[in-house]
Order: sequence, then structure tokens, then C-alpha cells
Amino acid sequence: MAKKTVRDIDVAGKRALVRVDFNVPLKDGRVGDDSRIRAALPTISYLREQGCRVILMSHLGRPKDAPDPALMLDPVAMRLAQLLSIPVRKVSELSGPGVEAAVAEMEPGDVLLLENSRFDPREKKNDAVLVRDLARLGDIYVNDAFSAAHRAHASTAGVAKVLPSAAGFQMEKEINALEALLAQPKRPFVVVLGGAKVTDKIKVIDRFLDMAEQVLIGGAMSFAFLRAQGLSCGASKVEEEGVGVAADLLKKAATVVCELVLPSDVVVADSFAEDAATQVVEVDAIPDDWMGLDIGPETAGAYAAAVASAGEVFWNGPMGVFEMAPFAEGTRAVAEAMAACPGVTVVGGGDSVAAVNKFGVADKMDHVSMGGGASLEFIEGAQLPGVIALPDKEPV
Ligand code: 3PG
Repeated sequence: MAKKTVRDIDVAGKRALVRVDFNVPLKDGRVGDDSRIRAALPTISYLREQGCRVILMSHLGRPKDAPDPALMLDPVAMRLAQLLSIPVRKVSELSGPGVEAAVAEMEPGDVLLLENSRFDPREKKNDAVLVRDLARLGDIYVNDAFSAAHRAHASTAGVAKVLPSAAGFQMEKEINALEALLAQPKRPFVVVLGGAKVTDKIKVIDRFLDMAEQVLIGGAMSFAFLRAQGLSCGASKVEEEGVGVAADLLKKAATVVCELVLPSDVVVADSFAEDAATQVVEVDAIPDDWMGLDIGPETAGAYAAAVASAGEVFWNGPMGVFEMAPFAEGTRAVAEAMAACPGVTVVGGGDSVAAVNKFGVADKMDHVSMGGGASLEFIEGAQLPGVIALPDKEPV
């Protein structure tokens, strides 16, 4: 990675203003999946060991530019305190005299969490006054929030231009993993893409069609491709705006070496419910009132075989509604095949990360990216504002 990291700048004894991505699911006032909090621990611990006062900023959810009690970061502070085994103070604002006073009271090694950055309407505007006020809180700025780096906000990009800045370890890990995947994937390179919308993934599919040996499609977005091939898909959720896009991608696929693979069979249900009646049918025989909610066993077997023998695999997006047991098998098959794959395995995106956690195989992956939108934009070749704002390493 060409960007400076916390190892490249003088951090000792400094007030470190750190952007993390603690945008985690909350359940009954508690943190559900804490992967993103754990991902930030190496950077926080390193800075504490160097005698820093660590001031953390994060967003949570998408509040409407105003405080929302359901999206306050208190449960996150509690979980972080448990993981670090130290008290973590949380303040109820992002900037201002109260926050400055709290920072002034910090001792080396202390950790302070600021309130949800998106409660302040200036955050998303990358407002210059907010940037200035945030910069007053730290001597250095560290960005460890790769998964929010596709946003040009005050806390992700603005402050980096004002304070001596560097990437944290999670940011470095994410960029190194994705750069390696894009530069020199091991062969055969197999990409598995699922999820709801093909329109969210056009550029990614397009790029992988130029790079990979196989792109395997699952999840609801496969119905846009099947419809583009003239199939009815019954009552399945078809993204109508995606059908033309899918047709274009199929046309491109016919001209490249990479194989674009669609499901051959599907698990259909008579309603969107865990206790719905289900059956397995070929994709060209989906009954009118039935909806596809998972890839079928034949497809799952074929995808698992392709994944298990790949030199490198990138996976984004579930194969079905894996939160419901009758529609989890396709996603499980991919997750388990990735765990068994001797090649390099990279998982990106919130739902696929939740899936590898659910099926207990996250620690078998070479890299689990915390970034959904950010990793896809990175793969598309976009310059992420949070990354470009960081200074490059000095030439050696
Ligand atoms: C994510 O969950 O992908 C990141 O935290 C970014 O969140 P956003 O899409 O609300 O900006």
C-alpha cells in the first residue's frame, strides 16, 4: 500500500483522532455482530501502547442529519470497553467545548468515543468549520475505517487534509488484500456474486468479466439475468431496471474468456416466510405463484465445486435468504467451499460477512473485508475519498 500507516508517523504520546467504522447492527440496545469493533482493536491497542490518548469517531446507521436516540453510540462504547477491558468514556456530541473539555481530561492510554458523527448535518457536507473543530481534538489523525472510505465526509476525508495523518492497520489490511486480488489473482480466479440488485454491481461484474475465469451469480439478482434470457421467474423478486443491464452483461460475457454462470435450479416457496411450502425446480419451470429464495442443490453443488478448486475466490452477496433456514443451504455451500478452498479466499460485504460468521467459517478466510460498498467501489477502480486524502509514504 502506498499510503502512510501509523508505523510511518510519530504517534508517541499524541492525541490521536481516529476514524473507525462502528456501524454495527444493534439488537435490543446491544451490539449484535461486533466484527467491525474487533477489526479496529489492533490500531487502538497500538496507539494506546504508544502512550496516545485515543479519540474515536464513527457513524452508525443513516440518521436524518439530527440526533436519533436509537442510533446513539452508547452500546458500542459498552462493547468496546468489554473488548479492551478498560473503561471507555462516551460523550454526547461530536465537537464543541464539552468534547474539548473531555479530551483535556484524558490520560495517556485513555479511549474516548464521540457521538454518532451523522447526527451533525455538517459531517456529510465535509463542512470546513466542523473539520476545523474536529482537528482541534487531535495532534494526529488516523483513518481505520476502510468500509466508510467511499464517503467524502468531514471525519473520513476532511480532517486528513488538516492534521498529520495515516492509515490504521485495518485500512492497510483491506487495501493490501484488495490490491493483491486485483493485481495478480491466483488462477483459476472465481468470483461469486449474489444479493438483491444487479444495478449495484454492474461495474464490478463488468470488471471481473475481464479478469476472472468464472463469475458465478446467485441471490435475487440472478432473476434479472434469467428474465433477460426470456424466463418468467414466477413470483420471484425481479429487479426490472436490472434486466437490461443483465442483458448487456450476458452479451459481453459471450465475447470474453470468462464464463458467466447462472443458477440451473432454484428453491422456490409459496410465500416469503420461514414456514412456507418449498420445492426445488429448474429455473425454466418456476410455477407462477412461487418465488425463488435460494439457489437449488444442483447449482449449489456446482458452485461449491468451482470454489473449492479455485486458486483465488472473491465472494460478495448471499445466494439466498440465508437468515431463514429453508433458504440458507446455497449460501452455506459457498461459505463451506470457501473454507475448504486451498487458494486465497476473500469475502466482502456485510451480508457475506454475516454468513461466514453464521456458518462458523470466518477464521478460515484469508481476508474478510468489513467494507460492502467501499470494497465494491475499490474493485470498480474508484478513488475512495477516505483513501486518497491520506498522505503517500515517503519514497525510500
Ligand atoms: C457500511 O456499512 O457499508 C459503511 O459503514 C458505510 O455506511 P453508509 O453506506 O451508510 O455510508
